[in-house]
Amino acid sequence: MNNPLPKEKNKTFTLFDNENGNSYEIPVIEGTVGPDVLDITNLFKESGLFTYDPGFTSTASCKSGITYIDGEQGILRHRGYDIKELAENSNFMEVCYLLLHSELPSPEDFSKFDNLIKNHTMINEQLVYLYRGFKRAAHPMAIMVGVVGALSAFYHDSTDINDPNQRMIASHRLIAKMPTIAAMAYKYSIGQPYIYPNNELSYSENFLNMMFAVPTQKFTIDKTLVKAMDRFFILHADHEQNASTSTVRLAGSSNANPFACIAAGIASLWGPAHGGANEAVIKMLTEINSKDNIDQYLLRAKDKNDPFRLMGFGHRVYKNYDPRASVMKDTCHEVLEILNIKNDPLLDIALELENIALNDEYFIEKKLYPNVDFYSGIILKAMGIPTNMFTALFAIGRTAGWISQWKEMIEDPIKKIGRPRQLYIGEDKRNYKPKEKRERKSIFEWLWSK
Ligand code: CMC
Repeated sequence: MNNPLPKEKNKTFTLFDNENGNSYEIPVIEGTVGPDVLDITNLFKESGLFTYDPGFTSTASCKSGITYIDGEQGILRHRGYDIKELAENSNFMEVCYLLLHSELPSPEDFSKFDNLIKNHTMINEQLVYLYRGFKRAAHPMAIMVGVVGALSAFYHDSTDINDPNQRMIASHRLIAKMPTIAAMAYKYSIGQPYIYPNNELSYSENFLNMMFAVPTQKFTIDKTLVKAMDRFFILHADHEQNASTSTVRLAGSSNANPFACIAAGIASLWGPAHGGANEAVIKMLTEINSKDNIDQYLLRAKDKNDPFRLMGFGHRVYKNYDPRASVMKDTCHEVLEILNIKNDPLLDIALELENIALNDEYFIEKKLYPNVDFYSGIILKAMGIPTNMFTALFAIGRTAGWISQWKEMIEDPIKKIGRPRQLYIGEDKRNYKPKEKRERKSIFEWLWSK
């Protein structure tokens, strides 16, 4: 379903150029909820001016009907449904359907969709050889970027982006194969045989089975842990125009195939300022090591000359509690209880750190609250997921959002190749000088003096 075109308000903004006395009328357009937007599409044509907004802090890069966030109030909704309600009552497959098709499925549609996804859980056997090209110690995200990108070499029948049927098949394939690809990266790293997908299991149970089962014995897993896994995937399913989703959209705007676009999204997600933060939180808590050291790390986080940041704190959009973090915090306690983990030293440090930071003037003034990654790492660690797999699990959940956003973009009647402009601050035109006439200090001397 295409989004309706944004409504133009009966309102304009006037931009006045003090130098030449010219003025430009900028139309204001409105969405369903949230702030209005200045439509500057024709600004350059009419005024010769670009706008400058590094990091897109005030720029809507697209219109979308998938996810709504109100960062001031800590609201996150998918297709109108609050994330807390979805996390408590829905399941990941249903949320995938919702993101892709705009509505919650009827029982028949749910069952059809669930079966369709299950039909695509295996990967081409030839892809197995690709894993062997990686070092056993390779980071799973490095393997994910490679293997997901390589899917475009195997599924040619779903790379024609102009065919709606192929777009849908590619979407199903990506959602279905991501757990298989991630679990295989883990099995490869520890030298265990791959466990093939089992379509009798639910999406999340199947993933845990592929991660932890071995061919020699029966594997059963506590249903509450399966639920926790499923909840983790729901909470990571989409988050409007974050760095990795914008990467997927930008890559897709050139009409690149969906497998290549999702591989680009995985690469962007890996960074510690984004999805890599869940792994970084555990590393940080381990490094802090004791509650007694918290003050010292808080001082470092506040020091402008120290690059250290409190991982799992802060968010570009949420200036209130991250709604995903509160659900994650409850799930975290449930998981630790089921696993009978009474005193988890990392959780103890995390709770103390949260408490101190929430009452610290620096964090209050800058509105830095725990984000989704703060608690998710503790849950995953308690479930026995190795730390270097955390971001790969984020990627499994986010694939539903990436592919829905990609599809929405391709189906948008005003789709254009993404091509930001710049403020050029380099040299103006100068003439070429032969080598012997150059007086500049050698770049190597400069580098070695560092
Ligand atoms: N610890 C200490 N100071 C911080 C932190 C932090 N975690 N986050 C922001 N600040 C300070 C920052 O130094 C800056 O101070 P000043 O105004 O004095 O220069 C101010 O707060 C604003 O920070 P910013 O970097 O301009 O904010 P941003 O919106 O560009 O960055 C962020 C958002 C998430 C990248 C950042 O808060 C951060 O690096 N957090 C730690 C990494 C993290 O947990 N990332 C996961 C994000 S949620 C899941 C996801 O999106 O994948």
